Amino acid sequence: MDEINKIFEEVKGQGRNVLTYEESRKVMELAGVPLNKIEVGKNLDECIAKANEIGYPVVLKVISEDIIHKTEAGGVKVGIKSDSELKKAYEEMMESVTTYHPGAKIDGFSIEEMVSGVEVLVGQTTDPQFGKMIAFGIGGIFVEVYKDVSFRLIPISENDVEEMYCEIKGRKMLEGFRGMPALKMNDLKSLLLNLSKLVEIHPEIKEMDLNPVMVTKDGLKAIDARIILE
Ligand SMILES: Nc1ncnc2c1ncn2[C@@H]1O[C@H](COP(=O)(O)OP(=O)(O)O)[C@@H](O)[C@H]1O
Ligand SMILES: [Mg+2]
Repeated sequence: MDEINKIFEEVKGQGRNVLTYEESRKVMELAGVPLNKIEVGKNLDECIAKANEIGYPVVLKVISEDIIHKTEAGGVKVGIKSDSELKKAYEEMMESVTTYHPGAKIDGFSIEEMVSGVEVLVGQTTDPQFGKMIAFGIGGIFVEVYKDVSFRLIPISENDVEEMYCEIKGRKMLEGFRGMPALKMNDLKSLLLNLSKLVEIHPEIKEMDLNPVMVTKDGLKAIDARIILE
C-alpha cells in the first residue's frame, strides 16, 4: 500500500473524511505538489522556536478541524517579523479564534515561510452530473468577486491545461503584470497533471483545493491545502 493510501486509511479509520492541514499537505507533497516550508508548534514557546528555525518574516496559522476558513476566524497572521510580534499575533489569534468559534479544538499552529507573488487557485471538485473536474483560476480575494475559474474533466491533458489558462479572463495578472512574477506554462502543466493523476489513482478523493498557490519568481508554491474524502 502506498503512503497516500496509508494516510487515507488512517483518516477513515478515525471516522473522518476531512484531512487535517498537515495530512493534506503530506498527500500533496507525495503527489509532487511544490509547497512552502512549515513547522508546527503546540504553544507560544514552540512557535517562537520554530519561527527562529525558519527565519523571520513568518506567517502564523491556526490548525483546527473546527476551523475551515482560517482567515475568517482570525486564524492567519502574515508578515510577522520578530519574537515580540509573534507573541502579539499568537495572543490576538487565540482571542479571535475562541471568540469566532467557542470550544474549537485547537490542534496547534503552523509557522510558515512567507511567500510572495500572485495568488492562483487550483483544485478538484465533483460535478453531480459530469464527475470529477480539475479547477484552475485566479486566487485570493478575486475568487469570490470574479469566479474566474476554468474546469476540465479528469483525466486532463497538457492541451487541456493550455486551454484552461486561455479561458482565464484575468490571465494578464499571470503574465508578469506590474513586475509581478509570471506563471510558467510548464509549471502549471506539471501541477495540474499531478493533481489529475492523484485523483485518478485515488477516486476516494471527493474534493481538494490549493488556495492559494503562489506564483513566485522561483516557480509555484502552494501555501494552503485541503482534501476531503467521499
Ligand atoms: N505562507 C504565506 N506567505 C504569504 N502569504 C500567506 C501565507 N499563508 C497565507 N497567506 C495569505 O493569507 C491568505 C489566507 O491564508 P490561507 O492559508 O489560504 O487560509 P484560509 O484560506 O483558510 O483563510 C492567503 O490567501 C494569502 O494571501
Ligand atoms: Mg486558503
